[in-house]
Amino acid sequence: MSISEMAKTIGDSVTLKLNAKAAAIRSQGGAVIHLGGGEPKSKAPEGAVTKAQEVLKTAEIRYGPASGIPALKEAVRRYTEEFYGRKPEPSQVMVGGGAKGAVMSCLRAVLNPGEEVVFPAPYWVSYPEMVKLCNGVPVPAYPEDGTVYPKVEDIVRKLGPRTKAVIINSPNNPSGAMYSADFIGDMVRLCEDRGLYLIMDDIYHRLIFDGRTQISAYDYAEDLSDESRLVVINGVSKQYAMTGFRIGWSVASAKLTKVMTNIQSHETSGPSVLSQWAAVGALEGPQGCVEDLRSTLESNRDVVMGELKSLDGVKVERPDGTFYCFCDFSAYEKDSTKLSNFLLEKVLVVAVPGVEFGAEGYLRISFCGSVEEIKEGVARIKWALDPDSPKELMIGGEKVSRDWA
Ligand SMILES: Cc1ncc(COP(=O)(O)O)c(C=O)c1O
Repeated sequence: MSISEMAKTIGDSVTLKLNAKAAAIRSQGGAVIHLGGGEPKSKAPEGAVTKAQEVLKTAEIRYGPASGIPALKEAVRRYTEEFYGRKPEPSQVMVGGGAKGAVMSCLRAVLNPGEEVVFPAPYWVSYPEMVKLCNGVPVPAYPEDGTVYPKVEDIVRKLGPRTKAVIINSPNNPSGAMYSADFIGDMVRLCEDRGLYLIMDDIYHRLIFDGRTQISAYDYAEDLSDESRLVVINGVSKQYAMTGFRIGWSVASAKLTKVMTNIQSHETSGPSVLSQWAAVGALEGPQGCVEDLRSTLESNRDVVMGELKSLDGVKVERPDGTFYCFCDFSAYEKDSTKLSNFLLEKVLVVAVPGVEFGAEGYLRISFCGSVEEIKEGVARIKWALDPDSPKELMIGGEKVSRDWA
């Protein structure tokens, strides 16, 4: 089979592979605990469901404008005003197929072949592949101090003549780290000074803990003209538990939004109108569900941090937000893929290998499941890794014996 050189560089999704493996074990009756998930378990908000039902009942679901239906763009304008202190024009909003679709259209709009996109590591698994899909070159920036909080110098060190854009994702998947307002401010100024696009992937910005408040990149922007290269990405997937609806959006200059919309119009014609109405319902309906989710995740974060303490030698930063923690398991096993496979095979626990996020020796553990799952999952990991564990453990009603060192 002849496929493109670019396509050959695109890896398969490890998370999907793990999901498939876990599903196969489950279908055989295995009591799998999934600590690899990337979506909240709560239901979509009532407002979203009702709105989608109303629209579906008309049985007239047609093409919509390529940049998004006006009602959703209006809701996004209000959302941006509420959470970012700035109301964009409708011409500055594009609705995409999830936050992913919006980031992708933006990268397509700005990258020439060989141009570089810098982002802090650890990073969301999709950034390198998305950049490559646009014939660009991904450039991860590793914090020199070994933490999950990048410094401006870490980013500056990676900038070169071919750098076109910087992506900042805070709070961060996989570390849960929320970068400081000073760092965000410095990034805005740095990108303005160097004429770089700054893509703020804010998909987790309301899922933050310990009394933190959202940071708006606009507070630091000097250039809000049509030449602005600041792009803010958000969506309903995580905060409203609406991952399957595939609705996200970008707020950017009208000039860039027009180009992104042209691209989207030919690629997908925009996301499903039905899903867009559901997103309107979520954004305009009662907002208590977001706080409920946020506070559940915060207490889950405390549970997982408490449980992880029982694992001697595992290092982890306390997440400031999201529903992930990124744990250094290198004291037990340096090859994270091997460790992830081992845990799934031996104790039926799914955790995503850190190498996928640019950090070997780590595992990403999600705490979006139930407290029982978190506790049981970590207990099984401890049993599997601690050489002093009892010889046997009951897993899903079956006795498992340690036949490894
Ligand atoms: C950092 C980050 N950005 C974007 C997305 C994708 O969001 P959506 O499902 O809205 O495309 C994810 C999903 O895991 C994510 O972690």
